[in-house]
Amino acid sequence: MAYQGVLNADIRKGRINRNIYGHFSEHLGRCVYEGLWVGEDSPIPNTDGIRTDVVEALRRIKIPVLRWPGGCFADEYHWMDGIGPRESRKRMINTHWGGVVENNHFGTHEFMRLCELLDCEPYISGNVGSGTVQEMSEWMEYLTSGDISPMSELRGANGRKEPWKVTYFGIGNENWGCGGNMRPEYYADLYRRYQTYVRNYGDNKVHKIACGPGGDDLNWMEVLMREAAKFMDAITLHHYTVPGPEWSAKGSALGFNEQEWFAAMDKAYFMDELLTKNEVIMDKYDPDKRVGLIVDEWGTWYDVEPGTNPGFLYQQNTMRDALVAGLTLNIFHKHCERVRMANIAQVVNVLQAVILTEGEKMVLTPTYHVFDMYKVHQDAELLDLTLDCGKLDQSGKNTPAVSASASRDGEGRIHISLCNLNPAEGSSVSIDLRGMGESAWKVSGTVLAESAMDAHNSFQQPDAVQPREFAGFTAEPGRLKVELPPMSVVVLCLTSG
Ligand code: AHR
Repeated sequence: MAYQGVLNADIRKGRINRNIYGHFSEHLGRCVYEGLWVGEDSPIPNTDGIRTDVVEALRRIKIPVLRWPGGCFADEYHWMDGIGPRESRKRMINTHWGGVVENNHFGTHEFMRLCELLDCEPYISGNVGSGTVQEMSEWMEYLTSGDISPMSELRGANGRKEPWKVTYFGIGNENWGCGGNMRPEYYADLYRRYQTYVRNYGDNKVHKIACGPGGDDLNWMEVLMREAAKFMDAITLHHYTVPGPEWSAKGSALGFNEQEWFAAMDKAYFMDELLTKNEVIMDKYDPDKRVGLIVDEWGTWYDVEPGTNPGFLYQQNTMRDALVAGLTLNIFHKHCERVRMANIAQVVNVLQAVILTEGEKMVLTPTYHVFDMYKVHQDAELLDLTLDCGKLDQSGKNTPAVSASASRDGEGRIHISLCNLNPAEGSSVSIDLRGMGESAWKVSGTVLAESAMDAHNSFQQPDAVQPREFAGFTAEPGRLKVELPPMSVVVLCLTSG
């Protein structure tokens, strides 16, 4: 199919906050234990117990922010169980996720060390569902107070004299569900109460983040914005891409058919509508856009890999996931005036992970490669790009056949990311280049494309799906023509001079 587009390089539409490229790590399955933390005595190379290979891989994609410790786990996590000498930390049953024993070896100090190694910002989720106001308040004091105080002294006794910086603090998670099954009115009042005691210490300035809706529960957003907007810096939204018709039949991560491919794209594209509808409500109560929208859980969710613990949510990751990632990131760019952060679920070994591990082995998934290719958009200025392309499928949904986004970085380079969502046909895209000045532009590109919908990287073949140099374009003055292979993600770089 052939499509026409226009890039107005002189029309800027906002800044793409680097935190849109954030990640999420929960005490769930093999995300924290094995995926991130192996312990200091492990034969797997580590720094202070944290896997070196995983840290290096995440640094390569410039991970800007990491959310922890949940998810549902956050509302049953008591942070004081995770400090002090490891051997004497309390053990608990992780009731949400597989009923396994949680030994609390990975706690506050270990998480903050991980963020230091990753050179990323921590985003902490506090416990509203089963925790007290005092507990939440003291966690913030423990993390960030440099004064003489009971919590800073306790932190010092545990080996850390200097306070940390914590910019992002979530007041509960999914409090409409696993975080306490609350009504929005009740949670709004609790939110107002709990956040009061999440203090700023010294020069630490915390962003207080309210729990927002899951899916299309617009009433939750309405009530929270009406009752509590003035007490929050941001509010969250969760949306997962579940291709199957119901929760008990989410579909398989591998070996799926074309219908399931289309269903995944349609459900991922629903993010655009969800954001628009929630933004309308936010605009009503916050027309100046002071309150950010944070999509702190998103990604694909399939039936778990056969033979694995159903509570561990382990799934493979294919070209379909790569396209869901590219499409969703393009949608976040479009909504960057309100969407200030997003966190794909989850960083290692759980759901749409960018990394899978097995013992000492590590695999980078197709989703990882999309994050790698797209990192050029972090903190760049969104440019006006429109593409006149048809619908992807016959489902009646508005999912476009090709998704596109463009930005200009601090050095003046323009990056265009294009996702051909069609698994069977290539697309020719011709883009009119406007507002680019008189100078000549050099073009280069990278592509992620395979011939099978479920092409993936395994521990036996870790490099089966890899980005390659892309030469499928012709650049003329004022026009760029791109030949996109079926089911491909392409990122082009336009450099002036
Ligand atoms: O990411 C897995 C789970 O999905 C999280 O714990 C929860 O917040 C959501 O329902």
